[in-house]
Amino acid sequence: MWHGRFSQAPADLVLRYGESVSYDWKLYRHDIAGSIAHARAQKAAGMLTEEEFSAIETGLKGILADIEAGNFQWDIALEDVHMNIESELTRRIGAPGAKLHTARSRNDQVATDTRLYCRAEIDNTLELLREMQRALVAKAEEYAGVRIPGYTHLQRAQPVTVGHHLLAYVEMLARDAERLTQCRGRVNVSPLGSGAIAGSTINLDRAAIAAELGFDSVTENSMDAIADRDYIMETLFCLGVIGTHLSRMSEDLVLWSSAEFGYCTLSDAHTTGSSLMPQKKNPDVCELTRGKSGRLYGNLVSVMVAVKGLPLTYNRDLQEDKEPLFDSFETVDLALRVNAEMVGAMRINPERCAAAVSDPLLLATDLADYLVRRGVPFRQAHALVGKAVAVAVETGTPLSKLDREQFLAISPEYGEDVYAVFDLDRAFAMRTNPGTPNADNTARRIAHWKQQLA
Ligand code: ARG
Repeated sequence: MWHGRFSQAPADLVLRYGESVSYDWKLYRHDIAGSIAHARAQKAAGMLTEEEFSAIETGLKGILADIEAGNFQWDIALEDVHMNIESELTRRIGAPGAKLHTARSRNDQVATDTRLYCRAEIDNTLELLREMQRALVAKAEEYAGVRIPGYTHLQRAQPVTVGHHLLAYVEMLARDAERLTQCRGRVNVSPLGSGAIAGSTINLDRAAIAAELGFDSVTENSMDAIADRDYIMETLFCLGVIGTHLSRMSEDLVLWSSAEFGYCTLSDAHTTGSSLMPQKKNPDVCELTRGKSGRLYGNLVSVMVAVKGLPLTYNRDLQEDKEPLFDSFETVDLALRVNAEMVGAMRINPERCAAAVSDPLLLATDLADYLVRRGVPFRQAHALVGKAVAVAVETGTPLSKLDREQFLAISPEYGEDVYAVFDLDRAFAMRTNPGTPNADNTARRIAHWKQQLA
């Protein structure tokens, strides 16, 4: 399609090196939608007759149907999805097909296609995020009141609940959805009409094309529009953060499902065995999710590095944006689906949770608060509780079982009522502020999310 000035065909290795159709064929649906909108604008501008337009539209729809039915022969000699489809159209309908590329370049075409692709995939990701949130909220509700130790530095810190812990991930995924939605706004701008770099002398109605394709607006600078891949980087960043959140959840579940913790049991359908050790039940889905976050970051970095040194406007380096983009969407799609399913099938083991959360050291901070309420400055209270913890550790006595004399030897501020601090019901009930693992808060958030996600 560009061989006019060449006397030699491209070398075979150059074809293999430069082709993108082996992966950008995935843009076919958007490429065809873009071409139909472009052709309609050509008709409106008097560049195509009604008959020519309808031959193009019917031809493209036929190609679409054939691709979807798996009856389309992609050819690397035609480089990319754009030229494969255009060339097939012309083969099928003849002369009108050869008019389609008027006032358009593959440069604005590929930017249009990838923006439409991002938009559709963002919408899919948003739905899957909600699916994942629903699974977490359902599990949080099922085990809302089951208490477990919360951890900092992976050391037991303070008591929380399974409900509160799982809802933390629901909050993260809500920010992911918000971020993606904002990103979608910047994705959804039409570059069509920017041509190769400087628009065209044949002026088609850009706003009408944009409206047909569901874009919110049109780009304002043809050079920027051709060179811009911010929308891809931003999308890859958003997907990377989703990967981070799923990876952290995976790590929690790897720990929880271990014999050491025993807080949860993953279903047989979402774990794998060992070919050597017959007893093993491995949390591979969690590990893969944790591992796959790496490629999501890699995809973002690949595109940023590919773009950073490019002079305006289009350079063939930009073709390298597609595989990372496709890979991140496909990775996150499957990750969200399989994790939602796994969380849905996961069981929590209340006895193991109860045993772990009965550790009175989890309430050492509440003990300091007790002293504070009796007028001891927090720093001193912290030190006085530290001493009590040291006695407990030295004498091998649980903190809650130190006797009156042991407490009084540390400070007269330890009253007779000190033992009430070690009541977990009280510990949760006293945390009344929004955001705390208090039962009412958890119930309120569960109700909120159920309504949001309905
Ligand atoms: N396959 C190309 C890409 O992905 C399409 C644009 C080609 N433009 C060009 N001037 N060669 O970037």
